[in-house]
Amino acid sequence: MQYFKKIIQFALPYKRFAFLNIIFNVFYALFSALSFIALIPMLDVLFEQDKIKAIKEPTYTGMLDIKDYFKDYLSFKVHDFAQDDASRALLLVISLVILLFLLKNIFRYLAMYAITFLRNGVLKDIRNELYKKTVNLPISFFSEKRKGDILARTGTDVLEIQHSFLSVLELLFREPLTIIFTIIMMLIISPKLTLFVFIFIPISGFIISRIGKTLKKKSDQVQKEQGVFLSTLEETLGGLKIIKGFTAEKLFREKFEESTSKFYRFSNTLLNRQNLASPTSEFLGISVIAILLWYGGKMVLIDGTLDSSSFIAYMGLAYNILTPAKAISKASYSVKKGNAAAERVLEILETESNITDLPDAQDKTEFSTEIDIKNISFKYQNDFVLNDFSLKVPKGHTVALVGQSGSGKSTIANLITRFYDVNKGSINIDHLNIKKITQNSLRKLLGLVTQDSILFNDTVKGNLLVAKQNASDQEIIEALKVANAWEFVENLAEGIYTNIGDSGNKLSGGQKQRLSIARAVLKNPPIMILDEATSALDTESEQLVQKALENMMKNRTSIVIAHRLSTIQKADNIIVLAKGEIVEQGKHEELLENKGVYYNLVKMQSLS
Ligand SMILES: Nc1ncnc2c1ncn2[C@@H]1O[C@H](COP(=O)(O)OP(=O)(O)OP(=O)(O)O)[C@@H](O)[C@H]1O
Ligand SMILES: [Mg+2]
Repeated sequence: MQYFKKIIQFALPYKRFAFLNIIFNVFYALFSALSFIALIPMLDVLFEQDKIKAIKEPTYTGMLDIKDYFKDYLSFKVHDFAQDDASRALLLVISLVILLFLLKNIFRYLAMYAITFLRNGVLKDIRNELYKKTVNLPISFFSEKRKGDILARTGTDVLEIQHSFLSVLELLFREPLTIIFTIIMMLIISPKLTLFVFIFIPISGFIISRIGKTLKKKSDQVQKEQGVFLSTLEETLGGLKIIKGFTAEKLFREKFEESTSKFYRFSNTLLNRQNLASPTSEFLGISVIAILLWYGGKMVLIDGTLDSSSFIAYMGLAYNILTPAKAISKASYSVKKGNAAAERVLEILETESNITDLPDAQDKTEFSTEIDIKNISFKYQNDFVLNDFSLKVPKGHTVALVGQSGSGKSTIANLITRFYDVNKGSINIDHLNIKKITQNSLRKLLGLVTQDSILFNDTVKGNLLVAKQNASDQEIIEALKVANAWEFVENLAEGIYTNIGDSGNKLSGGQKQRLSIARAVLKNPPIMILDEATSALDTESEQLVQKALENMMKNRTSIVIAHRLSTIQKADNIIVLAKGEIVEQGKHEELLENKGVYYNLVKMQSLS
C-alpha cells in the first residue's frame, strides 16, 4: 500500500477528474441497481395480469413498506397508462428498462471518460519526473545501472502502474458503490435472503487473497527481466559493428533469448495466477446464487413469502454484484502487480543525488585568478585512483596532463566538472571550493571536450546548439572554423543542416573530434577541459585536430589531457602522472633535459 499512496500523489493535480469520476459513478451505480428493480413491473405485467387490473393508487405508509409502496406505485402507473391493454403496458415497461440501462451506460462512459485524463496525465508526469531525475542523478549512479533497465522503468514499468494502479482508481468508487446500491435494493426486496450474501463476502475475500499472495514477487521478476532484455537490445544496437565483425551474433542472440525465455516463464506464471481471479470469484458467486435460488425458490413456491417477479429481479441484482465483486478481486491482484512496478519507478525517483548544491552555494559567473587543486584523493570504488594530488592552474595558462593509460587523467577532468566529488582535499576556483559553487554556474565556466566524442543524432547545427541555444548560423560557422571543422562541414550535402547519424556515425573519427571541439568553442567558456581522444589519426587529420586545439586554447585557461605529446609542447606546465601521483612537472624543454619519464614517452612516440 505504501507505494500505492506515493503514486497517488501524482494524481493530485488531476483530482478534479477524480471528482467527476466519482459523481458519474454514483449515478452509474444507482441506475445499475434501479434497472433491475424496473424489471419487477415488467415481470408483473407478464405473469400477473389479473392482479394489475385490480390495483388502486397506493398510499405511502412509512420507510418499512417502501418496497411495496414503490412497487405498487409503479404497477399502478403502468396500469393507468396501459388502460387494460397488456401490450401497451409491456411497451411502457420495456421503454423504462431501456431508458435506465441507457442512463447507466452513459454515466459509466462519462466516468471512464473523466478518469482517462487522470490516468494518462499521471503516466505523463511520472515519465517526465523520471527523465528529470535521470538527468539530475550523478554520473556514478549510471555506471552501475544498465541503460536498458532505466528504459524498462521509464517505459513499461510506468505503463504497468497506469494499467494496474490506476485502473484500480477507476474501480475504487464504481464497484463498491454498485455493490452498496445493489445490496440496498436487495435488502429492500428481501432482508432474509440478503443474509447469505453477507456470509459469502468474507469467505470469498479470504480465498481470493490467498491466490494473490505471491503476485508482487512474480511481477517483480517479470519487470526485471524486461530490463535485462532491453539492455541486451540496447547494447546490441550500440555494438552492431563488433557483433558482426566478431561474428558474435549467436552469442548475443542466445543472451537475448535466454532473457526472453525467462520472461516467458515468469509472465506465464504471473498471468495464470492472475487469471485465476475471475473464474474463482465467478464460481464463488454462482455458488451463492445457487443457495439463493434454493432458499428464494422455496420462499416463492412453498412459503409464498416472496412474489415471483421480485424474486427474479432479486436474482438479477444478486448476479449484478458478481461483476463488481470480480472486478474488486481482480483489482486486488492489480495492486499487488502494480506494487512491483511502482517500487522500481520510485527507486529511481527517490534516489537522492549525492552531488548537490550546498544551501549557501553561490552562482559564479567569472573566472579571475586560478584553479587550485589541493591535496585531493579520490576513489571510484575501493582503490584510490588519485593520491594527495595537488595542482595550480593560473588564469591564462595551459596545463597539460600526460601519463600512462589508467593513471587518472580523465578522473581529474571528472572531478573539476564535479561529475564526482573528491574524497579528500578540495578543488577551488578563485579560492572558492567548487562545492560552494552551484553546479549550473560551475559548468557554465567550463568547456568540455570528452575523450570519446559524444554527439547526438541531429544536424551539425543541432549538435552545436547544445553549447549555446540561440547561436546564429554565422556564430556556428565561426566556431567550426576555429575547430578546423568548417572545411569538411562545408562540403557536406546540406552544410550545417546535415544530419550526422546516431552518435555521429556518418562522420570519421577525426571529424567527430573536431565537431566536439567546435561545440566547446561555441560555448566560449573561460576554462577549457580537454580530454584528447586516444584514437590514432593519420598525420594529416592529426595536424588538423592539433591546430583546432591550439586555436581553442588561445587566450584561455586550459587543462589538456594529451596523448599525442606534439599537442602540448607549448604548454606552460606539463604534469606527468603515474598511478594517480605526479612524478614530474615542468616545461617541455626542461622535462626533456631531465631525461626522465617524459623524455622516454617522447622518445617512444617519435619512434612510432
Ligand atoms: N567509472 C569508474 N568506475 C570505477 N573505476 C573507474 C571508473 N572510471 C575509471 N576508473 C578507474 O580509474 C583509473 C583511472 O582512470 P582514468 O580514466 O582517469 O585514466 P586515464 O588516465 O584517463 O587513462 P587513459 O589514458 O586510458 O584515458 C583506472 O584504473 C580505471 O580503471
Ligand atoms: Mg582518459
